Amino acid sequence: MQEKNRMKIELAENYGFCFGVKRAIKIAEENTNAATYGPLIHNSKEIQRLEKDFKVGLVDDFTTFKAGDKAIVRTHGIVKEELEALKRSGVDVVDATCPFVTKPQEIAQEMSEKGYSVVIFGDEKHPEIKGVKSYATHGAIVVGSVADVKNLKLHERVALIAQTTRKVEDYMQIANYLIPRHKEVRVFNTICNATFENQEAIRALAKKADIMLIIGGKNSSNTKQLFSISKENCADSYHIEDESEVDIDWFDGKKLCGISAGASTPDWIIQNVIHAIESKLK
Ligand code: F3S
Repeated sequence: MQEKNRMKIELAENYGFCFGVKRAIKIAEENTNAATYGPLIHNSKEIQRLEKDFKVGLVDDFTTFKAGDKAIVRTHGIVKEELEALKRSGVDVVDATCPFVTKPQEIAQEMSEKGYSVVIFGDEKHPEIKGVKSYATHGAIVVGSVADVKNLKLHERVALIAQTTRKVEDYMQIANYLIPRHKEVRVFNTICNATFENQEAIRALAKKADIMLIIGGKNSSNTKQLFSISKENCADSYHIEDESEVDIDWFDGKKLCGISAGASTPDWIIQNVIHAIESKLK
C-alpha cells in the first residue's frame, strides 16, 4: 500500500497476469523468430515488447504461413480447421493455447459426438468461443443471455459450456433455465479460476475504494468484466490501457484509489500507472 497526499493506492488481492498468459508469454519468449497467429494475448503493449525483444511477430491471416515457418497458437486458441490446415501445410505449430481453453474445446467435441446439443454461454465474436465452437463436431449454439436460450430447439440431452471469463451468476441463470426443461443437462464449469479470483478481489476492493482504475486492453473481455463489477460497487471506476490515460482530476478529494488489472496486463504497465498517479499528485 502506498500513500501520497493522503490518497492511498491499493492493489486488489489478485490481479493481472493469469497462469495461461504467463505460460503463453514464456512459450513466445522461448520461440524467437516465430509469429503468433492472431494476438497472443489481448494486450498490444506486451505484443510490441515480444516483437521488439524476441522477434515474435504477429500474423492475422493463417494462410500466409509457409512450410517450415513457426506459428505460435495464441492463448485463446484457434479454430480447429485452421489448426489442422497449418499442420497439414508443414508449419511448425507451437501451441500456447491455455489448458483452461483446451478443456472446453475437448468437452465440445466429446459431447457433440455423444449426441448432446452443445450450448456455449459466451461471446460469439470472441476468438476463444469461435475456437471452442469449431470443436463441436455437429455444431454448437452460442448464447449470451437467458433470452437467447428461450427459442432454441435443443435435443433432450444438453451440454452447457461457458466462456472462461464469464460471471458464475450469469452462467447459473442459463443452467437454471435449461435444467427443468430437458431430460439431461450437463453443466461444465469451464469458468477460469484466475478470472474468478480477480473478480472476487476487485469486488472487495471496489466496495471500499472511492476511485478504481482497471488496467487492460480495451478489447480484453476479462478486463471489461472486471470493470463492470468495479462500476457496480464504485461509481468512479475507469478502464484504462496505460498511464497515458490517467487524468489528475479523477483524484480530487479521493482517499483510496483501488487498482486492478485484466489477466493479460503485464506488471510493468501496472507499475507505470502507479508511478504516473504518484508523480501527478506530488
Ligand atoms: Fe487461461 Fe484463465 Fe488465463 S483461461 S488464459 S488462465 S484467464
